[in-house]
Amino acid sequence: DLLDQIKELERLFSVDQAKLKEVTEHFVGELEKGLSVEGGSIPMNPTWVMGYPDGYETGTFLALDMGGTNLRVCEIILGEEKGEFEIIQSKYRMPDELKSGDSEELWEYIADCLQQFIEYHHEVEDLEQMDSKLPLGFTFSFPATQDFIDHGVLQRWTKGFDISGVEGKDVAPLFEAALEKRKLPVRLSALINDTTGTLIASHYTDDTMQIGCIFGTGCNAAYMENCGSVPKIAHYNLPPDMPIAINCEYGAFDNELVVLPRTPFDVIIDNDSPRPGQQAFEKMIAGLYLGELFRLVLVDLHDNKCGLFEGQDISKLRKAYSLDASFLSFIEEDPFENLSETAELFARELSLKGSKPELELCRRLAELIGTRAARLSACGVAAICKKKKIESCHVGADGSVFNKYPHFKVRGAQALREILDWPKGKRDPVDIRAAEDGSGVGAALIAALTIKRVKAGN
Ligand code: BG6
Ligand code: GLC
Repeated sequence: DLLDQIKELERLFSVDQAKLKEVTEHFVGELEKGLSVEGGSIPMNPTWVMGYPDGYETGTFLALDMGGTNLRVCEIILGEEKGEFEIIQSKYRMPDELKSGDSEELWEYIADCLQQFIEYHHEVEDLEQMDSKLPLGFTFSFPATQDFIDHGVLQRWTKGFDISGVEGKDVAPLFEAALEKRKLPVRLSALINDTTGTLIASHYTDDTMQIGCIFGTGCNAAYMENCGSVPKIAHYNLPPDMPIAINCEYGAFDNELVVLPRTPFDVIIDNDSPRPGQQAFEKMIAGLYLGELFRLVLVDLHDNKCGLFEGQDISKLRKAYSLDASFLSFIEEDPFENLSETAELFARELSLKGSKPELELCRRLAELIGTRAARLSACGVAAICKKKKIESCHVGADGSVFNKYPHFKVRGAQALREILDWPKGKRDPVDIRAAEDGSGVGAALIAALTIKRVKAGN
């Protein structure tokens, strides 16, 4: 019956302290492997962001932010005062069709949004009179191989994107061709990842920030490494103590499936995704997959187990990816003992009528999926701390799951305590905090740093 099913789901989705520690230990080794010449499944991409800004970067920059829920264009003015900045921005929808369309359509769409933004915020005469192009930081939040900062070869699409003709290609000329066509007064100065942007922008306002994380549609982190600890860039002969930001791309952790506690539902998600066998860690915890996991369990309970929603037409529930993480958030936030808001949600979105015990099972399932995501997420952060021997720091975090999913922060913090064995009752030495607009400001700062470096001739 339903109670037995709840027990079984608890068994499947719970991750206890011992497992968290085991995952973290394995994670530390995999981070190391990614930095080696042979490489591993975590890409550990060098970003060519060589250290933090000093707070005295100035100028006007554009930032384009693609790879999360929205496409965003920002204009950032870094002021004369240390750490001072102003930002204006517009958000554009990222149409689902684009995510599996072709390359040309993608770049055309992005360039159109950029053009709209520029024309709205600047007078045409001013644009024509400009003697130099506006530098742009492009936050392209996918794994990219970079030999220098203003280009990047897409290693593979993640987060359900599947646009043909881009993997293995340098995205900079593809994007620049679309700018050129429109004669936009813009110059691509830096291609960055959202985690690197978050790291740099967070450190700008709080110099105890040492890790930048995204818990959103995807999940990933960046941190500062010493060049001497990155064997795969040894041939550049950089000073061993020179800092370099590493975009871990740790959504790919444990693609070999050595340690992750996968359920049969995780296996289905992977098999039905455009890139099976990749992003094993991300597929268990990121926002894109939480609603789908929930949906798959409910369909299984209806078809094969306890006859959940028995006798009802569950055709709406059968549609893949029809529920997103906000569906689970809503259920977890239902303030009423009788779960009346959850009942309304099921009626409205899925035309289903749930009995009280059925709704209670749904609530418990949402809790289990949300808790597993937060607890496993903590392993990545803990692994970076262990690898770098960081005992205390702030971690800057962004993304819809971190900012909006109920209890995610508290659950993640609890897991960190369990992994790192902190004494009870003391302030947490590693504190994950919301980063303020990481990607926009981060992209501007990185563009500014790059220009400074070019001017200084190094
Ligand atoms: C946004 C950042 O706030 O969060 C993006 O500006 C980032 O760069 C995004 O990709 C991640 O969150 P989500 O939930 O939109 O994937
Ligand atoms: C995916 C992307 C990565 C990004 C993360 C968060 O893991 O591969 O580049 O940082 O999602 O958006």
